[in-house]
Amino acid sequence: MKILITGGAGFIGSAVVRKAVADGHAVVNLDALTYAACLENVASVAESPLYSFEHADIRDRTALDRIFAQHRPDAVMHLAAESHVDRSIDSPGAFIETNVNGTYNMLESARAYWQGAGKPDSFRFHHISTDEVFGSLGATGQFTEETPYDPRSPYSASKAASDHLVRAWAETYGLPVLLTNCSNNYGPFHFPEKLVPVIILNALAGKPLPIYGNGANVRDWLYVEDHAEALLLVLREGALGRSYNIGGENERTNLELVQTLCGILDDLRPAKAPYAGLITHVADRPGHDARYAIDPARICAELGWRPSVTVEEGLRRTVLWYLENEDWWRALQNRAGVGQRLGVAS
Ligand SMILES: NC(=O)c1ccc[n+]([C@@H]2O[C@H](COP(=O)([O-])OP(=O)(O)OC[C@H]3O[C@@H](n4cnc5c(N)ncnc54)[C@H](O)[C@@H]3O)[C@@H](O)[C@H]2O)c1
Repeated sequence: MKILITGGAGFIGSAVVRKAVADGHAVVNLDALTYAACLENVASVAESPLYSFEHADIRDRTALDRIFAQHRPDAVMHLAAESHVDRSIDSPGAFIETNVNGTYNMLESARAYWQGAGKPDSFRFHHISTDEVFGSLGATGQFTEETPYDPRSPYSASKAASDHLVRAWAETYGLPVLLTNCSNNYGPFHFPEKLVPVIILNALAGKPLPIYGNGANVRDWLYVEDHAEALLLVLREGALGRSYNIGGENERTNLELVQTLCGILDDLRPAKAPYAGLITHVADRPGHDARYAIDPARICAELGWRPSVTVEEGLRRTVLWYLENEDWWRALQNRAGVGQRLGVAS
């Protein structure tokens, strides 16, 4: 299959690109190379005859039409997005332009291409979204595919809008779509502004380990390579028009997650004192959702997917990867906003 993957120079997109090429698919990686992108993430497949790269912006409809016409993909996996909640609080406009208008352009360009090709049944437009569209849970319960949308940050609202557009293009025009909503990812090549790499890199530098508020916010952690596998499984075998929730069933409070990371670092790179001594509570994020938890029963029962690692094992692999790939993360630490506290708008 030839797959057009948007956002393939980012964290999750690059994991999908690497896995898709390893599985024998031809891949066209379309990416605007924003501050969050790194072509090193796909260096391991860049020389493959199955791989090609298009430096393009999903806000540019003309460029999208040219790329569809030139590459004639069998499927689209749409991951390109502005993805950092803290940045969405400071600069929501970029999230509307890329996540909403950009997805609209992708849908229209894909529709024109698909219609021009005689509406092949086999075509797929797979939209990758987040569990954050469902809002915030109390102490119990999980998000299912039927949970009503209730986004609460500019980021999650823009992703919810894009999900609605995708469903509307399926209902109105018959575009063959698939949707997935997944929980917090972590793993190799995670851009150093997100919680897991921030904690690892600050600990290695002997800097404070910032915890927003009391650290009681719960997230459901998913190893990125398990997510990439799930996404390719949904693309191959998912039922047309259906959405699938993807989660690792690994709920942890932020404080527990950071303490686990500290324990792994104590083991792999012992310092003079336990790393947990660096934990520092800082001002909370405005509108910080209390708890996310995914019920992955549908993808497990219908497609036979299971996460391959526990969060402890996945975090250990992740810490080892950061210890072994210092050149990668040092180069990204100079990018705008990295290492600064963002998203504390008044
Ligand atoms: N990271 C998570 O935990 C998580 C969880 C659930 C869902 N998601 C979704 O998965 C997708 C990928 O997330 P990620 O964490 O890999 O993001 P990321 O920020 O690491 O990467 C995003 C990529 O998209 C590209 N991009 C951004 N704007 C673009 C534009 N206008 N045109 C073309 N390319 C553009 C960037 O250059 C970058 O390579 C997103 O759609 C996100 O909403 C992420």
